[in-house]
Amino acid sequence: MKNPKSILITGASSGLGAALARDYATHGITLFLSGRNPDRLTAIGKDCQSRGATVHTGLVDVKDKTAMSDWIIKCDGITALDLVVANAGIGIGFTTEMDLEAHTQQVFDINVTGVFNTIHPAIRLMQPRAHGQIAIISSLAGYHGLPGSPAYSTSKACVKAYGEALRGLYASHGVEINVVCPGYVKSPMTAVNDYPMPFLMATDKAIKALRRGLEKNQARVTFPWQLSLIYGALVRLLPEWLFDRMFRLMPAKK
Ligand SMILES: NC(=O)c1ccc[n+]([C@@H]2O[C@H](COP(=O)([O-])OP(=O)(O)OC[C@H]3O[C@@H](n4cnc5c(N)ncnc54)[C@H](OP(=O)(O)O)[C@@H]3O)[C@@H](O)[C@H]2O)c1
Repeated sequence: MKNPKSILITGASSGLGAALARDYATHGITLFLSGRNPDRLTAIGKDCQSRGATVHTGLVDVKDKTAMSDWIIKCDGITALDLVVANAGIGIGFTTEMDLEAHTQQVFDINVTGVFNTIHPAIRLMQPRAHGQIAIISSLAGYHGLPGSPAYSTSKACVKAYGEALRGLYASHGVEINVVCPGYVKSPMTAVNDYPMPFLMATDKAIKALRRGLEKNQARVTFPWQLSLIYGALVRLLPEWLFDRMFRLMPAKK
């Protein structure tokens, strides 16, 4: 969608969400920003206000279905939402010393259920007026299950597939749905990684690519292009036995 005026972003208290909020913040724009950390969220909100935007912040945990629904309905009542970005997520790796079940539950509660809790109320509001756009932040890590981050990569594969399916379903109802698959982007999430991150992208460049893709209503918005190309080719062309060998050697995500 070109020129959305009323934008809701989850996970706006840090990293990509905060950078996207700042980038959209200007006169005539209303931003609804959520996160859990009050100090960081307030600081980002003030910064966006100083750029001319009208800002409403909400301390809402994406895991809380009722709180999310209430908050999204409240925001939409203030200014009908044009764009909702389901961005909040955690990216923690796994080693076999950890509790696989607890780890996977923790990641899925935020990265999958949290996305559902964001997009379902938004679709309910947008469908009757046949207007709106929903961006789901997945990852290139969602192209194939990764041994170093089994829950994370699978959670991102899940929301990617869900977004692709919903896009086809709601296109005729005037709701645009986009799946965003970043590679490595500079943010607090990647700052803890102590292994090489190929084609690590500056945050502002990533935000430009993201906005460009959403403006064009691209089904899948991927960046950086080099890593997208490599991941896409690997997944399509590599036999599974070779994939197994290569990705077993990858360091575990922090
Ligand atoms: N950076 C990358 O290279 C990269 C690559 C691919 C995909 N992604 C995806 O991009 C998104 C943003 O990542 P980032 O790099 O910006 O990470 P980040 O700096 O760690 O930010 C994560 C954001 O999610 C919020 N969040 C986490 N759990 C939440 C919860 N339960 N309820 C509400 N908000 C919650 C955090 O809010 P609080 O801190 O206030 O809790 C924070 O604002 C994630 O979905 C991530 O998987 C990032």
